Amino acid sequence: MPSLHLAFLASHSGSNVQSILNAIKKKLLDAKPCVIISNNSKAYVLERAKIENIPSYHISSLKYPEQEQRDSAIIEHLEKHNADTIVLAGYMKKLSSRVIEHFKGRVLNIHPALLPKYGGDSMYGMAVHQAVIDAKEIESGATVHLVNSEYDKGRILAQEIVPVFPDDSPEILAARVLAVEHQIYWRTLEKIAKGEIEI
Ligand code: GRF
Repeated sequence: MPSLHLAFLASHSGSNVQSILNAIKKKLLDAKPCVIISNNSKAYVLERAKIENIPSYHISSLKYPEQEQRDSAIIEHLEKHNADTIVLAGYMKKLSSRVIEHFKGRVLNIHPALLPKYGGDSMYGMAVHQAVIDAKEIESGATVHLVNSEYDKGRILAQEIVPVFPDDSPEILAARVLAVEHQIYWRTLEKIAKGEIEI
């Protein structure tokens, strides 16, 4: 029995989800992918779910207008598929405290910068990398952290640094950081699976 039963929540491409699925398939990570949820019906991550044969659901405010209903739907689907660890990967909705409490201490996120710098509710997408470049940082990176009710403030589990070069565009920096994200997320999950990181 794999030690982690993973649920993924993602809003767009899901390349981070794919990197974790690949690590599982290569037996580098001892985990079972149970379910993928997206708030965006057009997200490519839902296509990936089909290709990989993983149950997937679209849970959005269009289908569930009230926050209460959305929370219940998310919890219900995660429980139905026996998920015990929730992996946020480019999930653009704030998870309500009810969902976070339900899976207390077992919700992870990845952020494309070195938290606690460049986090917070307006820090997503290219805005993060633009802010790093504007501040003339010489380093950025990726952070895997636990999720609590404050944006990007949960306990940091892992970080990896990349250089920032003077002529970087946000897109070039984003690509350099994303390459690191694709390694650090599954490696952190593997450490959790092995008990080397406690959550
Ligand atoms: C990643 O940069 C992640 O850090 C951020 O959103 C992006 C998601 O990319 N939170 P993808 O959908 O995994 O390709």
